[in-house]
Amino acid sequence: MAGKPPSTIGSVLGAAAIELMAAGLDEPRRRARRVLATALDLSATEIFAHPERALTATDQERIAATLRRVIAGEPLSRIAGMREFWGLEFVLSVDTLDPRPETETIIEEVLARAPDRDTPHRFLDLGTGSGCLLLALLSEFPRASGVGVDIALGAARTAHHNAGRLGLGGRASFVVDDWARSLGAGFDAIVANPPYISTAALAELPPEVRNYDPKRALDGGADGLGAFRAIAAELPRLLLPGGFFAIEIGAGQAAAVAAILMQTGLRIDRFASDLAGIVRCVVGRR
Ligand SMILES: C[S@@+](CC[C@H](N)C(=O)[O-])C[C@H]1O[C@@H](n2cnc3c(N)ncnc32)[C@H](O)[C@@H]1O
Repeated sequence: MAGKPPSTIGSVLGAAAIELMAAGLDEPRRRARRVLATALDLSATEIFAHPERALTATDQERIAATLRRVIAGEPLSRIAGMREFWGLEFVLSVDTLDPRPETETIIEEVLARAPDRDTPHRFLDLGTGSGCLLLALLSEFPRASGVGVDIALGAARTAHHNAGRLGLGGRASFVVDDWARSLGAGFDAIVANPPYISTAALAELPPEVRNYDPKRALDGGADGLGAFRAIAAELPRLLLPGGFFAIEIGAGQAAAVAAILMQTGLRIDRFASDLAGIVRCVVGRR
């Protein structure tokens, strides 16, 4: 009599997708591929390409454990401890936000505004988290250098670690500060993705955000605009003549943030929308 057929990527993938669907999670097939990829430390493409590959008992235990965590609401990026941003891999820690794809809008705006990649720009990234914005920029501008600031020591450490992993450590430095109080002038471009959710709205965030992203990365104070006020007060001093800024904003915050920035004498040049059509980034200059 033939024994039980060996478990393969294909068969376990199908079963995982059914479990994810039963748990009410969207895109169960795609999610199942990512679960297997994370558990087996393979790329989603490798999972896709090798459905016939046999799985050991250890592989299957790892997949089952990862699946349980996903069904319990833990983001896969947190389980893997990694997130891709601008095509680069960033290590995450409990002190860093899990970078969001819409934040890449800032990088697109800087590239549009500063087309010459050989310029030795000096960038400043306020609220650097994993370092994703500063390091993505340094990857695009090979002669540029920059500083990333975060109030969370753990975030600055993770960003420093990411800079080294990405081979950008020689051009990036990280400081722990309350925005840029200790920094002097001299930046050609300043980027920031500040916390911009009102304190009251934090409780309404989906559990995968509320339970896993650090509160300091999300909480924008009573009206969600506190960090913009603090940053706006510092930008005129920090930017070189001709320097510009690109700052992420939350849905519906464009007019209020523009008013805050203009009150400090800054000029607004444009608003940029993300792929979902939400106004996501304000760009302006001294
Ligand atoms: C929304 S997260 C952005 C992280 C990263 N730039 C990204 O886009 O993924 C905001 C960051 O600002 C930092 N932050 C909050 N308050 C700060 C302050 N007063 N000074 C400096 N950084 C601050 C948080 O620790 C967090 O890392």
